[in-house]
Amino acid sequence: MKKALILASFLALAALAFAASGEQVYQTYCMSCHQANGKGITGAFPPLVEEVPELIGKGDKGRAFLIDVVLFGLQGQITAGGGTFNGMMPGLGGSLKDADVAAVLTYVAKAWGNDKKLPKGFKDFTQDEVAKERGKQLTPQQVYQLWKALEAGK
Ligand code: HEC
Repeated sequence: MKKALILASFLALAALAFAASGEQVYQTYCMSCHQANGKGITGAFPPLVEEVPELIGKGDKGRAFLIDVVLFGLQGQITAGGGTFNGMMPGLGGSLKDADVAAVLTYVAKAWGNDKKLPKGFKDFTQDEVAKERGKQLTPQQVYQLWKALEAGK
């Protein structure tokens, strides 16, 4: 009986240690706007379904853009999933550690069937990749310039 109790508390502690999963970061920091199903809200918050794998498909610049949006935010008119959005996403770099950013981007890359749209050889986002972007200290408007360049295929 006592042994079982000790084992139970050990397991509970182990669960806490691994608390910051990508899904949990999403629920805490993204879901209120992009919604539980990743589809966003028409005219207000763009969908992440299909959009995220599409951006990853644009290569290293697409990956860097995704990291920059989460770290520094985004402001400017974009199109996503057939809709137009002209809002402002606040940067979350002040609240999220590099590992959290990597975890949440890996989560949104694979959630909601996005995994089936990823390019072959997709690799999870890494903490080091995020740390490299963080050094750039961009504004939401500068991140928008990156969106325009990606859209133009540059
Ligand atoms: C306060 C609401 C809000 C929160 C919280 C938020 N976003 Fe956003 N997000 C937006 C808005 C608004 C835009 C579009 C900005 C624009 O129109 O320029 C956006 C844009 C994006 C884009 C670019 C989409 C595209 O098609 O280019 C990605 C990727 C993204 N958000 C991911 C996330 C992730 C991941 C989180 C959590 C870590 C998050 N967002 C949290 C509101 C939010």
